Amino acid sequence: MNFYILTLFPEMVMGGLTTSIIGRAVQAGFLHIEAINIRDYSANKHQKVDDYPYGGGAGMLMQAQPVYDAWQAVAGRIGKKPRCVYVTPQGKTFTQKDAKDFAAEEDLILLCGHYEGIDARVLDEIVTDYMSIGDYVLTGGELPAMVMVDAISRMVPGVLGNQESGSFESFEGNLLEYPQYSRPEEWNGRKVPPILLSGHHKNIEAWRRQQSILLTQQRRPDLLEQADLTEEEWGWLKGIGVRKT
Ligand code: ADE
Repeated sequence: MNFYILTLFPEMVMGGLTTSIIGRAVQAGFLHIEAINIRDYSANKHQKVDDYPYGGGAGMLMQAQPVYDAWQAVAGRIGKKPRCVYVTPQGKTFTQKDAKDFAAEEDLILLCGHYEGIDARVLDEIVTDYMSIGDYVLTGGELPAMVMVDAISRMVPGVLGNQESGSFESFEGNLLEYPQYSRPEEWNGRKVPPILLSGHHKNIEAWRRQQSILLTQQRRPDLLEQADLTEEEWGWLKGIGVRKT
């Protein structure tokens, strides 16, 4: 999968996406990640990319022209108009399901805003998806774009090794992942749950499923409402005093 990140801070984006699992997947050819410096497309002789907002107000806006030209350089080079995500607190909240959906794309452009935002006319022209990573405001779109590239990349076949991709993950079936333990068997007076040492795989699986359900109920009751539970599991939850809403 190919990512094209339109940004004023290409080093920041590339620095965060060339290490660890994502860096390895780039090296192995499963991913192509490219940061395009919007400033390189400024028609201004001082490479200026921002200006005052019409109608007044605080701060500066990124102008339409350099953003459009940077986008067009990518679209022209690859010969199509891929989905183009503008990362903004005004977007839809990005979820694991979105990560899976975007991972099915061959190419994806992410547009990072700075200052007080971007001239709305170029957004109307090029943006297909408005996405937020949560209800808080960051100083720019680079961190959200990196978060999205990371989450989407994990869903691209080949990016995770077999060991990493085979296991149950949080948000599958709207449940959180069960707690995990490694050696030693006792640490700081705390023992590993004995069932995990039993070697009885069926019981271990059943215990993990119960732990997932309990953890989701404790930490994310909003998720549990939409979780894929069997009637028996809802019955068990009811038995321990949790009601389906
Ligand atoms: N830009 C600034 N804050 C953001 C957020 N929460 N999500 C996406 N883009 C942003």
